[in-house]
Amino acid sequence: MRKRIIAGNWKMYKTIGEAKSFVTEVKDRLPETDNVDAVICPPSLYLSELVKLTEGTPLEIGAQTMHDVDEGAFTGEVSPKMLADLNVPYVILGHSERRQYFNETDEAVNRKTLAAFSKGLTPIVCVGESLEEREAGKTVETVAGQVIKAFEGVNAEQAKEAIIAYEPIWAIGTGKTATAQDANEVCGEIRAEIGKLYDDETASAIRIQYGGSVKPGNIGELLSMEHIDGALVGGASLEPESFLEMIGVAA
Ligand code: G3P
Repeated sequence: MRKRIIAGNWKMYKTIGEAKSFVTEVKDRLPETDNVDAVICPPSLYLSELVKLTEGTPLEIGAQTMHDVDEGAFTGEVSPKMLADLNVPYVILGHSERRQYFNETDEAVNRKTLAAFSKGLTPIVCVGESLEEREAGKTVETVAGQVIKAFEGVNAEQAKEAIIAYEPIWAIGTGKTATAQDANEVCGEIRAEIGKLYDDETASAIRIQYGGSVKPGNIGELLSMEHIDGALVGGASLEPESFLEMIGVAA
């Protein structure tokens, strides 16, 4: 069975003091279980400190984005080599906010996905449709297209280790969650697409998260679905109690 993964995407929230006090509180209160990976993705400024703070604990750290090359004249960017050097295990790639506000294209997401694997980082590749695409009946076409492009050149062994986060854009930060059935249906289509790109074994190994207004009150139903292996959580991951509650449900 696939191990669940609950990841908190903190986006551009929290001071270093707030980040450290969250992590200090949460790391010792996580349930002892092998059923779920618990990950926090803080602003990149805090990665170094939080990786050290969580060493030897079940709480893991991820980055929210990265560039695709190891070094160069790219003011403000963080590289795959730097993340690997800090022992950051995960990196979120292609989040809809990166695609929307920072012009991140499918091609860039693909380059970053390949770069992540080359450095031993586990990518959390985000895909999702806009409201217009959903209303035009183009959800599956959009999401499958993003998956196909992101995984170009990724081999089956790597794909088995990857994580895909299905985040319908209209459900992010809006309080509107896709119904568990709708989310499961799209996650099932994503799994089927991975099956077509690789094989059944890869399709059943890859972990697929749902993201979009996930909170303690709805995570149980989402996780009960066949194709949903976890959640990528924004707002509800900012408070220790609600993060711990969601991990508790997943465990
Ligand atoms: O990456 C998580 C995300 O975009 C969902 O945010 O606040 O709707 O849980 P939120």
